[in-house]
Amino acid sequence: MKQTILLVAGARPNFMKIAPIVRALQARADRFDFRLVHTGQHYDREMSDVFFDELGIPKPDFHLEAGGGSHAAQTAKIMVAFEEILQRELPACVLVVGDVNSTLACSIVAKKAHVPVAHVEAGLRSGDRRMPEEINRLVTDAISDWFFVTEPAGVENLLQEGKPRESVFFVGHVMVDNLLFQRAKLEAEGPGAGESPALKARLGRYGVVTLHRPSNVDHPETLGPIVRALGEISRELPLVFPVHPRTRQNIERFGLELGPGIELTRPLSYMDFLNLWKDAALVMTDSGGLQEETTALGVPCLTLRENTERPVTMTEGTNTLVGVDPQRILQAAAAVLRGEGKAGRRPELWDGHASERIVDALDRLL
Ligand code: UD1
Repeated sequence: MKQTILLVAGARPNFMKIAPIVRALQARADRFDFRLVHTGQHYDREMSDVFFDELGIPKPDFHLEAGGGSHAAQTAKIMVAFEEILQRELPACVLVVGDVNSTLACSIVAKKAHVPVAHVEAGLRSGDRRMPEEINRLVTDAISDWFFVTEPAGVENLLQEGKPRESVFFVGHVMVDNLLFQRAKLEAEGPGAGESPALKARLGRYGVVTLHRPSNVDHPETLGPIVRALGEISRELPLVFPVHPRTRQNIERFGLELGPGIELTRPLSYMDFLNLWKDAALVMTDSGGLQEETTALGVPCLTLRENTERPVTMTEGTNTLVGVDPQRILQAAAAVLRGEGKAGRRPELWDGHASERIVDALDRLL
């Protein structure tokens, strides 16, 4: 029988994970119908709509417009609006991705309505409960029915937490499905559009920076030293820094001076950003996804955090955890620039076919 799946996407890092799942479901239209819900957690054009256009995600069937506000306010708005949709649609399953507030909100609502929840990118644990995403991961995994996992550590975490082995599926990474698909498109299309072609031509060798985690950007005593360390590095290696709205607000609010070698841009579209970082000498970030994407393409990455929920990027990939101590950042960047960065290899099953494995599993489960 044909089954309807409700797909949830809300924030920028969800969109690239939903795109390949949509393609895999479309390829099995004999078996599955899907409806797409956009919670509206991210609402600026450059944080949201541009990704739908570029990644070929169909227009959402439902837009909850539940963005902005504190964590509680945002989560609550999403829950109230999603409950109404769920009651109307009565899907066979709700599929959530990642670890953002939308993931948490919709999985709770679905479970209370007795609708099975599939969590894509399940089982990751940073061990840091001060991180909002860690709470979202723990709660979502506590109540989900089926767990689609990107790396072996995720499987171990879920089994240790008592999940039945048959509910845990090591499938690889849907974000890498999207990455390989979009990179092939980019290579076929020539130099690319947007800001990256001109930046690349002008800068030659360059690094890329992204920062948005509250623990790094919400306090001047942390953001200030990070920005000064970046300024230091930028004397040797020009840095392009596409800024998340919250980080831009804080740089201005704290009156921080950026070194002359740092170029701020607005948040870039997926393709424009990919075109930029894939050829960077070095990426410095506090993002979860970019740690993995750089590993997938073999680009050296320094993660400006004390922990990672994605350990395979360190054990097998190109990622090094450097924390936020300026000296450590400077030393690690210098090592990469001397050609002493990690070589790394692409982790198991990061092969572009995770979404198909997920849809195959759902075919057996539903
Ligand atoms: C969210 C996710 C984080 C993810 C990040 C990627 C949670 C808990 N966090 O963090 O895991 O890595 O997205 O971008 O879900 N804002 C805008 N326009 C927008 C969206 C946000 O101006 O389109 C500003 C607003 O001031 C907003 C703030 O950014 O209040 C924070 O947005 P929010 O969605 O709460 O969290 P992010 O920091 O974006």
